[in-house]
Amino acid sequence: MSLNTQVGKLKLQTPLLLASGCITETPKFFLRAQPYGCSGMVTRSLRQHISPERLKTIVPRYAVFNQDSLLNCEWGNEKSWMDWQNYGVRQVKDTGCPIIVSLSGRNLDSCCYLIQAFDKIGVDAYEINISCSHSGILHGNLNVDAFHLEKLMKKVRGVTTTPIWIKLSYSNFLVSIAKQAEELGADAIVCTNSIGPGMLIDTKTAKSKLGIKGGGGGVTGKAIFPIALWCVHQLSGTLNIPVVGCGGIFTADDVIQMLMAGASAVQLYTAPALKGPVVFERIANGLERFFAENSQYASIKDLIGLTLNQTGNHQFSSPHPVVIEERCTGCRVCLQSCAFGALSMVRRRGKKLLAVIADNCISCNACAGVCPKKFDAIKASF
Ligand SMILES: Cc1cc2nc3c(=O)[nH]c(=O)nc-3n(C[C@H](O)[C@H](O)[C@H](O)COP(=O)(O)O)c2cc1C
Repeated sequence: MSLNTQVGKLKLQTPLLLASGCITETPKFFLRAQPYGCSGMVTRSLRQHISPERLKTIVPRYAVFNQDSLLNCEWGNEKSWMDWQNYGVRQVKDTGCPIIVSLSGRNLDSCCYLIQAFDKIGVDAYEINISCSHSGILHGNLNVDAFHLEKLMKKVRGVTTTPIWIKLSYSNFLVSIAKQAEELGADAIVCTNSIGPGMLIDTKTAKSKLGIKGGGGGVTGKAIFPIALWCVHQLSGTLNIPVVGCGGIFTADDVIQMLMAGASAVQLYTAPALKGPVVFERIANGLERFFAENSQYASIKDLIGLTLNQTGNHQFSSPHPVVIEERCTGCRVCLQSCAFGALSMVRRRGKKLLAVIADNCISCNACAGVCPKKFDAIKASF
């Protein structure tokens, strides 16, 4: 089964790309992930010059929470962009996969300089990062700066014909900023970067868990998935250029949701960073399984945007969730989740304890949400 997709003219063997960040400072992590189904990579956001202050690394730079989410206060490439020019780009290209060079969109002249340098060796696209959610506290928030975007697009579009992807993050102005990028010649929107700033405190010391001045970092991983999905759905419903979904993707089901919301492909960072490159294999296998079990879909293309015309109206009625008797073990986990007294345990045929849902159920689906995954005994009503 082929998992091919395209972002504009860029062909991908699977919809799974490695997103920009610390693990794409060099091609090493991608070279490990590629055999598992990762179909291309985005470099770390590169700047032409690294200021002496930025050569020092803030520590702690990460704080993992809930085992699947991350707060980070990274501030850009530590190694020279010339490493990519001299050998990094070639190493990725040798795999036959595309390389997308991420550039910091803050300094326009540097951004153009790097584009001209990379155009000489040829890369598949530029992803321009104007959305780091914590750098805004220190240097101004580009993610919502329409004036900066206009200057940026006019400059970069003037120097290259290579596809330009603009990377945005959640904001109240997301759709209008993305539309502006499209009108000024962007070839795709990537969304979302980290969301924030956010903060975590170590209660033993009362200090911020991150070493950055002010304590704020960008939130990534599972915690942001629903917001990222909403962003992709909004953008896909409005734009004519492709959207690349990013944020909190850990499973094949997450990827399928992103595709249904309208993404043409997806990028992952926190999942491979925390669980290793093998995450790509698990997801690719999960996608294959999904197609085997859902023969009405023949390709990734069939899934893209399926949800877009399904959210136009409020829904005012819904069936109750259903207990699947053979799977229910009477573990009582669901009992605590029912704030409306609609769930009880009964003994069936004098033996087995079973969850039973009464008519005063309001279809909140909390019971289905908390039922342990290994039992999966309550079918939600959506
Ligand atoms: C440690 C770290 C460093 C990152 N560095 C960059 C970066 O240099 N440029 C960029 O565009 N995004 C950067 N990101 C954001 C990721 O590319 C991605 O958009 C974000 O983490 C959301 O995806 P995820 O939930 O799969 O991690 C970074 C994320 C993390 C966690």
